Amino acid sequence: KKRVFSGIQPTNNIHLGNYLGAIRNWVETQDQYDNIFCIVDLHAITLPIEPKELHSNIRKLAALYLACGLDLSKCSLFVQSHVHQHAELSWILNCYTPMGWLNRMTQFKTKAGEDMESVGTGLYCYPVLMAGDILLYQTDMVPVGDDQRQHVELTRDLAQRFNGLYNKPVFTIPKADIRTAGARIMSLADPTKKMSKSDPNPNAYITLLDDPKTIKKKIGRATTDSERLVTFDPARPGITNLLTIYQALTGQSQQHIEAEFAGKGYGDFKAALTDCLVETLAPIQQRYHELISDMPALEGVLKQGADEVRPLAEKTMIKVKKAIGLG
Ligand code: TYM
Repeated sequence: KKRVFSGIQPTNNIHLGNYLGAIRNWVETQDQYDNIFCIVDLHAITLPIEPKELHSNIRKLAALYLACGLDLSKCSLFVQSHVHQHAELSWILNCYTPMGWLNRMTQFKTKAGEDMESVGTGLYCYPVLMAGDILLYQTDMVPVGDDQRQHVELTRDLAQRFNGLYNKPVFTIPKADIRTAGARIMSLADPTKKMSKSDPNPNAYITLLDDPKTIKKKIGRATTDSERLVTFDPARPGITNLLTIYQALTGQSQQHIEAEFAGKGYGDFKAALTDCLVETLAPIQQRYHELISDMPALEGVLKQGADEVRPLAEKTMIKVKKAIGLG
């Protein structure tokens, strides 16, 4: 079976973009692959975060992974910092990554903002840590949203460079797996920006734990336009984003959806979208609350996951060190 690896940062609230761009796709294909899913806490410290918040976010994200339908008989689920090989490989790969490659990473520029003098160098090297995550497990496929495409490309380049340098297939060359509907969910407040966990405006995103009233309010306020035509149209990014969410949730074609709302207005469509969201999220939230109330069981799951993947990570580290001449 092909190996799948992916991860999410335990920062802020996991939102609809994370669900439609990542988790949902992991769940859909978990039978076909050999799956490893990570809670990437070492990535979460690239920007300041409160210790208590980080600690609780890690558990919350583990509960959400399971609540969304990941099955422990098909996946290993673990916390990045529980497997020290991630930090170890990341250092080694840093020594093989040209500055020029990292200078081209667009996410760094967005996240660092104007703060170039004081932002931590971890944020700059973050794509190399991510490359290490993927390469440690000889991963074939990386199911992610569109915003991670560039990082997976860097991972491929780095693996090829390393293998070429030592003339040995030390790393499997991974591929990004980016699905079409849902790979890039936009902000509800400003549909020209992607939906983001760090958006200061909570009306810009729907979290997986939002209650029906909140969902209704956020969809009601979502930016549209004055045309009132319920059609997919790149020139009207607001309604198109809402329609894309509806398409990703229902699995119907664009034509089918446009026909469903022909002659109807934004109000009717927003009501249908709200119902659809509430229906999707209700069972996830119910399972989440059960899982989060049994902390010892959840901790046990994470410990077991780390125990399962550690030998795989160590096997790669031995290959890497041997190729380089370390140790
Ligand atoms: P993160 O935590 O920002 O996002 C987690 C996943 O959600 C996807 N995503 C979206 N998809 C669609 N629309 C959106 N608006 C949206 N926002 C986020 C992301 O593409 C991602 O799949 N660097 C990664 C975490 C990571 C990782 C890895 C992923 C670390 N190591 C190894 C894969 C493999 C990140 O910050 O994702």
